[in-house]
Amino acid sequence: RTVYLNGDYLPEHEAKVSIFDRAFLMGDGVYEVTSVLDGKLIDFKGHATRLQRSLDELDMRAPVTMDALLEIHRELVARNEITEGLVYLQITRGAPDDRDFVFPDPDTTPATIVLFTQNKPGLANSPAAKKGIKVISIADERWGRRDIKTVQLLYPSMGKMMAKKAGVDDAWLVEDGFVTEGTSNNAYFIKGNRIVTRALSNDILHGITRAAVLRFAKEAQMEVEERNFTIEEAQGADEAFITSASTFVMPVVEIDGVALGAGTPGPRALRLREIYLDESR
Ligand code: PDD
Repeated sequence: RTVYLNGDYLPEHEAKVSIFDRAFLMGDGVYEVTSVLDGKLIDFKGHATRLQRSLDELDMRAPVTMDALLEIHRELVARNEITEGLVYLQITRGAPDDRDFVFPDPDTTPATIVLFTQNKPGLANSPAAKKGIKVISIADERWGRRDIKTVQLLYPSMGKMMAKKAGVDDAWLVEDGFVTEGTSNNAYFIKGNRIVTRALSNDILHGITRAAVLRFAKEAQMEVEERNFTIEEAQGADEAFITSASTFVMPVVEIDGVALGAGTPGPRALRLREIYLDESR
């Protein structure tokens, strides 16, 4: 694989960063994951806008312009001949001379920027989408700024492991009795013609896929309600699904051992997946 590090395109094993890098020592970095279909980036503008917001919220400086970033994405997709897959981008506060909690001066400590591609043939035509996924609920024990897409992913990783141990695919996070989101995706249920998902706030990541799917749902005359909901309400729904750049729209067929509807992907979730894949290409 050819990867990008601080201005250079390199073979992946030649890309090296300092042990003093702030992301390594402090989790002090932000990231984005953009999907690629037919060799084209999906919703790059949305990801770039959210990246800029994450950087601003953490008082971090972008080492390149958003236009340059688009060119780097395209160059990596081309060099690695990605038809279907993902581009991972990470910007950290760089590597100061020593470990220190205080932010380094950005004039003397430039940010570290890394991008790599992940080849995923069959991402759009995923067998998981035909089967649907099963989730369990777990407590949301992340920090309070989930709207910032940081690389502090330990709790989501622990959540995936809890799901794996329970023999299911993923976990939905619950705080004060209400679902926030999935470990690495936004969470929804459908009752009748209505889609319900948590409203945007600092409690969840503002999904780029979420924004597109809710827009397409409204255009398809579905009702959208952004509000808090419980696991019990979702278990009593007709359908459920998750969204993210790596799963698009993925039907959820079981929540904490309770099957939804027939226990197979619901027609509306599948239709939304189809619309999303058609419209966003
Ligand atoms: N995760 N919520 C969380 C906590 C996420 O980590 C993600 C994305 C989403 C969905 O956002 P989007 O639709 O913009 O991808 C929601 C990425 C895919 C990841 O960590 O790999």
